[in-house]
Amino acid sequence: MARVLAALLVLASVVVAAPSRRSLHALHEKRAMEPTDWVKSRRVDPDWVLPMRFGLVQSNLDKLEEMLVEVSHPRSPKFGQHYSPAEVMDTFAPSKESVDAVTDWLVSSGISRDRLRLTSNRGWIHVNATTAEIEDLLKAEYHIYTHVETGAEQLGCHNYSLPIRIRDHVDLVKPTVHFNHRLGANAKAKRFGGLGMPSIGNGPKKSSKAVTITPSLETCDQMITLDCLRALYNINYTPVATDKNTFGVVEFTPQAFLPGDLDLFFRNFSPSLVGVRPKSVLIDGAVVQNTSRSFNFNGESDLDLQYAMGLTAPQQITLLQTGDLSQGAGFDNWLDALDGPFCTFDGGDDPTQDGIYPDAAGSPASCGIIAPPNVVSISYGQDEATASVHYATRQCNEYGKLGLMGTSVVYSSGDNGVAGFNNVCLDSSHQDATSSNTIFNPEFPSSCPFVTAVGATQVNPGSTINDPEGACEQVIFSGGGFSNIFQMPSYQTDAVNAYIKAHLTPSPFTPGQFNDTGNARGFPDVAANGANYIIGQHKRVL
Ligand SMILES: *[C@@H]1O[C@H](CO)[C@@H](O)[C@H](O)[C@H]1NC(C)=O
Ligand SMILES: *[C@@H]1O[C@H](CO)[C@@H](O)[C@H](O)[C@H]1NC(C)=O
Ligand SMILES: *[C@@H]1O[C@H](CO)[C@@H](O)[C@H](O)[C@H]1NC(C)=O
Ligand SMILES: *[C@@H]1O[C@H](CO)[C@@H](O)[C@H](O)[C@H]1NC(C)=O
Repeated sequence: MARVLAALLVLASVVVAAPSRRSLHALHEKRAMEPTDWVKSRRVDPDWVLPMRFGLVQSNLDKLEEMLVEVSHPRSPKFGQHYSPAEVMDTFAPSKESVDAVTDWLVSSGISRDRLRLTSNRGWIHVNATTAEIEDLLKAEYHIYTHVETGAEQLGCHNYSLPIRIRDHVDLVKPTVHFNHRLGANAKAKRFGGLGMPSIGNGPKKSSKAVTITPSLETCDQMITLDCLRALYNINYTPVATDKNTFGVVEFTPQAFLPGDLDLFFRNFSPSLVGVRPKSVLIDGAVVQNTSRSFNFNGESDLDLQYAMGLTAPQQITLLQTGDLSQGAGFDNWLDALDGPFCTFDGGDDPTQDGIYPDAAGSPASCGIIAPPNVVSISYGQDEATASVHYATRQCNEYGKLGLMGTSVVYSSGDNGVAGFNNVCLDSSHQDATSSNTIFNPEFPSSCPFVTAVGATQVNPGSTINDPEGACEQVIFSGGGFSNIFQMPSYQTDAVNAYIKAHLTPSPFTPGQFNDTGNARGFPDVAANGANYIIGQHKRVL
């Protein structure tokens, strides 16, 4: 994949002598907030050559949902007829019309055709142009920005415009408003990526109390075990064609499982699995670290693997360990490993969210290093409000494309009910989150309609495995709500409308407290037990 991407196609060099025409421009992108700690120090020299990239819009994205439902709905005649990676790439590649429109505009503006390069996936047109040329093309002003503390410099513009007839063909232009200089270790704390950092607080909830009872089917309201889950959901089945199946579990470094923890758990609850390990795929220089050891470093990975392995054995589990110890990773990074072209199209990964590889620590960029597993499970999330619409949409479409290829992606829906991490809600502009705000704070990627969002239920205190479960309200509050970015997909219309009718009509909430238009994506999609799991960890069964 990487090889194909690196090979740039030279555009057919038919030189058309077109007179330069003035065109009506309209604002295309502008910076939301000036970056703090950076000052605008001077204009960029007009002769300075900039490596410009024009990202072209993908075709057929408006058909993605319909195509996905066609191959995913059991009653559809095309059920299970998944697309190949090449078919997906072809379907969504920018159209010839877009390539031509942008090419013609650049040529007619005085950039000769032999200076343009189209990338092999047709996603980008590259051109080296002087700052003067670009400022004229984009009606922008390029400045050098200097970092106050370190003196580091980067260039960019505050906003840029495109001719009206070109705007629909261009997703974004770089370098422009995207402020993405990386300052190394210190910058890390400011970006959201590094999902695995214990401070992010997305591990299992902290009540890491030691086990004081002998767990049994009678105590499932206090402690969930593999046997409790099997009994609750009548799981009485041994997978037979495990070599044809693949099941991936994503973990973000420095979160890591400890082999001894798996064995401790299996000795107690699944003896035949003692010594069995997941198959580790190390993405972007990942390590399954074993130097930082505590519930905060190992709890999530231990939990995910002990139950994934325990419930699906003898299915081999693939551990998709993502991110190195230096910068960690965001959600785009594990997707890059499954789909090489995703590394670069639509602007590539987002330095404010993802790890950018290769990096100074010597970690490679893992683009397309593994075929997508049939099912991928991820127990991490972020507040949707911390993702830009561009970032969330680009990533969400990728989950849809994986679905077309037959991969189901399963995300947990969160632990804080309608609030976000740390139990905070949004202000009315969705810019700030504090405990005194009241606007609901949905979670991403579970708010993306192309993943399966999984909420949590509980065996209510005093109830047995034969009683109905309740929504999870002890230890954690199952996450759910309505997206502020994504529309309601057709497949959930009936379910969401029935929910709105039964529980939100009339609405007990203030207008605007969440997207109550009835048009927004609702989540979770399904729910299963999510409280009081026993985990084998650090010589104790927690
Ligand atoms: C732009 O210039 C760089 C450095 O000389 C070169 O590697 C690259 O191929 C050029 N790109 C185009 C599109 O001409
Ligand atoms: C765009 O940037 C220019 C120069 O940096 C500035 O003068 C102008 O006000 C900006 N326009 C908008 C709409 O923000
Ligand atoms: C820790 O990880 C290193 C590197 O993978 C490995 O060589 C070592 O055996 C591990 N130590 C323990 C105690 O698991
Ligand atoms: C609610 O969500 C829909 C669908 O995404 C969107 O079109 C609409 O603008 C949103 N309304 C508000 C008030 O946020």
